Amino acid sequence: MRQKLVAGNWKMHGSLSENRALLGELRAALADVRNMACAVCVPFPYLAQAQDVLTDSAIAWGAQQVSEFAKGAYTGEVSASMLLDFGCRYVIVGHSERRALFGETDQVVAAKFVAAIGAGLTPILCVGETLSEREAGMAESVIARQLDAVLNVAGMSGIARAVIAYEPVWAIGTGKTASPEQAQAVHAFIRQKLAVLDMEIAGRMIILYGGSVKAANAAELFSQPDIDGGLIGGASLVADDFVAICKAAQF
Ligand code: PGA
Repeated sequence: MRQKLVAGNWKMHGSLSENRALLGELRAALADVRNMACAVCVPFPYLAQAQDVLTDSAIAWGAQQVSEFAKGAYTGEVSASMLLDFGCRYVIVGHSERRALFGETDQVVAAKFVAAIGAGLTPILCVGETLSEREAGMAESVIARQLDAVLNVAGMSGIARAVIAYEPVWAIGTGKTASPEQAQAVHAFIRQKLAVLDMEIAGRMIILYGGSVKAANAAELFSQPDIDGGLIGGASLVADDFVAICKAAQF
């Protein structure tokens, strides 16, 4: 059985004082969580704070994006080795907001993925279709294209070191969650696509669902056979909600 993972994506929210309270509450409330993994992906300036509060806790931490470059004259960028310096285990790669708002192409996403695994981080690779792509019957072909871009440069051995997050763009921050059946169908598609290349790796791949996951719908989503947890935006900023979602992933 695959272990479930629930990862929070704080996006550009928080402050030192708000985070101290939130991280402290999560640390205490999730101390006894069993048979699942949890993590929070915080803005870069708060990585040191996450490391400070969460070291030796049940909660891992990570960043929300990473440079594809190792070091050099790249003003404003943050490298994978810098994230490691702050104890990160995870980094989100290819979130739809990065793709849509910051021009990250499939090729850039693939290069960031390679940089992350090269440093020993676990990328949380986000894939997902927009509403118009879904309505045009293109959801699977879009997701296949996004996965192929990474597979072409990292191969199955690279994918094996990552977590995949299916995040339909139309469900992110909209309150419109994919139904458990809709999400399961795409998760099964992703796993079958990987299984053609390597059955064993596909079988143990952790595939998260993201997009308006709440305490009220988490258990039903996580009970689907190919949904191995969630990537949680808005609800990860509310301690009680995030704790409830993590607990919904326990078995
Ligand atoms: P949401 O965001 O849970 O607020 O929909 C999910 C995400 O963007 O990762």
